Amino acid sequence: MAVGTVLVTGGTGYIGSFTALVLLQNDYNVVIVDNLYNSSKVAVDRIELICGRRPAFYEVDVTDEAGLDKVFAENPEIDSVIHFAALKAVGESGEIPLEYYRVNVGGSIALLRSMARHNVSNIVFSSSATVYGDATRFPNMIPIPEHCPVGPTNTYGRTKTMIETVITDHIEAQRNNNKKAGKPYEQWNGALLRYFNPCGSHPSGVMGEDPQGVPFNLLPLLGQVATGQREKLLVYGDDYPSRDGTAIRDYIHVLDLADGHIAALKYLREHKPGVRAWNLGSGRGSTVFEMIKAFSHVVGRDLKYEVVERRQGDVLDLTANPALANKELGWETKLTLEDACADLWRWVDNNPKGYRQDPPAALLEA
Ligand code: NAD
Ligand code: WQD
Repeated sequence: MAVGTVLVTGGTGYIGSFTALVLLQNDYNVVIVDNLYNSSKVAVDRIELICGRRPAFYEVDVTDEAGLDKVFAENPEIDSVIHFAALKAVGESGEIPLEYYRVNVGGSIALLRSMARHNVSNIVFSSSATVYGDATRFPNMIPIPEHCPVGPTNTYGRTKTMIETVITDHIEAQRNNNKKAGKPYEQWNGALLRYFNPCGSHPSGVMGEDPQGVPFNLLPLLGQVATGQREKLLVYGDDYPSRDGTAIRDYIHVLDLADGHIAALKYLREHKPGVRAWNLGSGRGSTVFEMIKAFSHVVGRDLKYEVVERRQGDVLDLTANPALANKELGWETKLTLEDACADLWRWVDNNPKGYRQDPPAALLEA
């Protein structure tokens, strides 16, 4: 018997596909909704290749309420939603803000409305450490606890902050309205998961991040330098007040992150807390130079880089205080930075065309 059935929006994307995989491995059934804007249906095949179970897949846009209604109607056993579908490029969000508000905020509203019509009342939402903005503007807020005031510095971050508010208001209203009407209300629950810097791939080497366009995150760019697709990494500033002058981030293996979603889902079911926010990070910060060193180590050679100006909007330090998630969710990161680097290298080295090629036979036999 399945533990439950989870609708995973954005489930062919990077974090969504790993979470779908881990859900299946934990005996949940999975229904994926994705419009394939930044992903490929091949992710569904790779999930099945790894765990022997295949999620259902619907090519539906999350802003399309009628499309979502059809998915819920055809899968009445869905009891929870994990909502990943979104646009996520920080730079682009400043260029086309209306599109970011339409898809990210509008898509979340459409999803919540459709969920309510089908009596699906648990949602786990992909928020981001970016909601905190520059936490160094406060004394003693590094590592960052959940009670650090939010203050996003870009449009993408503002969409995430806004969606947190939308989910909170909606779930509180559902609980209050049902309570007043003497109806069950405790089943309405939400988890706002603030991810720090997700990275890494599946250790099998057959599943990893495969964005449709040019990557902009540090590790995928380093991967491209290692495979020769990019001449060098541009290091955005070495004049930060850190131990080596480069900015500090909390890198978390995508499989640990996926586990955090399973833990949050379980917590919502067991404790029915209303809406809660949790940081998902390791609690350890690494500088850009430390990341270059760690990745160069697994690749086995030096990787070329050049220090340039700071990137606009970057902050000095985004390191999580994950104590609340550790305590309440019984979750903590298990994998190391070295695991993330080794897994990423196995993925990019073996699959230079990502999901547009079959994985090498040697990996399939392993
Ligand atoms: P991703 O782009 O790989 O995955 C997002 C998925 O959503 C893609 O498969 C895309 O095709 C889909 N999608 C986009 N618009 C859609 C729409 N209108 N309808 C249906 N599907 C749509 O990104 P990811 O890195 O896996 O991120 C997943 C979630 O986590 C996003 O909400 C993102 O904002 C959040 N997040 C990501 C990071 C990160 O660094 N990767 C950090 C914090 C939070
Ligand atoms: C990491 C560090 C860069 C590229 C972003 C989003 C955030 C979240 C995760 C979604 C920084 C430096 C990077 C390069 C570099 N996403 N860097 N050269 O900016 O911490 O977070 O992704 O929610 O919202 O803002 O991640 O991987 O881009 O950068 O020196 O070519 O690497 O300056 O210090 P970031 P990142």
